[in-house]
Amino acid sequence: MTKFVKLSNGIDMPIIGLGTFKVRGVDVLRPTLETAIAAGYRSIDTASVYRNEADIGLLLKELLPRHELERREIFITSKLGPKDHGKGRCRDACLGSLEKLGLSDIDLYLIHWPGTQGHAPGDAGNPTRRLESWRDMEQLYKQGKCRAIGVSNYTERHLTELLDQCEIAPHVLQTEYHPHLVRPGLLSLCQQHNILLQAYSSLGTTVSPEQKNKLLHDETVLSVSKEVNRSPALVLLRWAVQQSIGVIPKSTNLEHIRSNLEVFDFKLTNGQMDKLTSLDQQHHYCWNSETVL
Ligand SMILES: NC(=O)c1ccc[n+]([C@@H]2O[C@H](COP(=O)([O-])OP(=O)(O)OC[C@H]3O[C@@H](n4cnc5c(N)ncnc54)[C@H](OP(=O)(O)O)[C@@H]3O)[C@@H](O)[C@H]2O)c1
Repeated sequence: MTKFVKLSNGIDMPIIGLGTFKVRGVDVLRPTLETAIAAGYRSIDTASVYRNEADIGLLLKELLPRHELERREIFITSKLGPKDHGKGRCRDACLGSLEKLGLSDIDLYLIHWPGTQGHAPGDAGNPTRRLESWRDMEQLYKQGKCRAIGVSNYTERHLTELLDQCEIAPHVLQTEYHPHLVRPGLLSLCQQHNILLQAYSSLGTTVSPEQKNKLLHDETVLSVSKEVNRSPALVLLRWAVQQSIGVIPKSTNLEHIRSNLEVFDFKLTNGQMDKLTSLDQQHHYCWNSETVL
């Protein structure tokens, strides 16, 4: 069963959730969510750009009663589409996501990307537009539409800028984080401000097929996996969770969905943790927002 971490505002967030990037259509989502909920997942990560919010909303109506779960027993995250930055636009987008999901409030709403779609990464308007979005999110939070708010793909620079200007500090920062991309500066900035760091692409999947599963096949990951007699995927998830970093592995393989929850059933030694951390290559398997002004 899932374990929880307390966010800075006192809300409990499951430390593991189910990722749903590229998981689309009721036929795929139904067995995926059904298996996840039955196995004990209590958190689902979606986003406006994943185009699966409406299907997830439909399935929540079906699956929660079937599993005798109340709305509050499941933690739903969605994200502001990068095209929807700006004053009023962010508010409308969040309310639109709520409608699709069939929810009156959302557990966590994140700014998906620090830049605005349709504008160059170096566009001088990016900082103003993302601050306007944050102001909308502060209002949505105060009005109870979002139980927690946060950002995604913010670097230390983007986060420091936000912390300097916000009224309400983000509760969560979701970003790429795994042994090939270790970010001690970002992690320590989050810890200093009581912001929960949630990792994505923990298993190092990538959009480019030639790099697929490079992390899952890393020799050190494989040797630790042998030592603890757990799959390489579990070793990578455990490495994060043992540092109190949240994880949201995605899978449509029902066995993988179930087995990823075994992350709570074993521990890595300090030596194994250090070995994995030393694999750092500052390599992004997903997006890199460094160039976004
Ligand atoms: N904020 C952002 O910009 C952002 C960016 C990327 C992702 N995300 C979120 O983070 C989630 C996770 O990231 P991700 O989807 O990039 O990748 P991921 O969770 O690191 O990896 C998913 C891949 O790993 C495989 N997998 C899962 N469990 C496995 C296991 N036990 N053994 C072997 N293979 C396993 C899955 O294939 P099978 O289906 O075959 O198991 C899938 O191909 C996303 O779904 C999304 O919700 C957010």
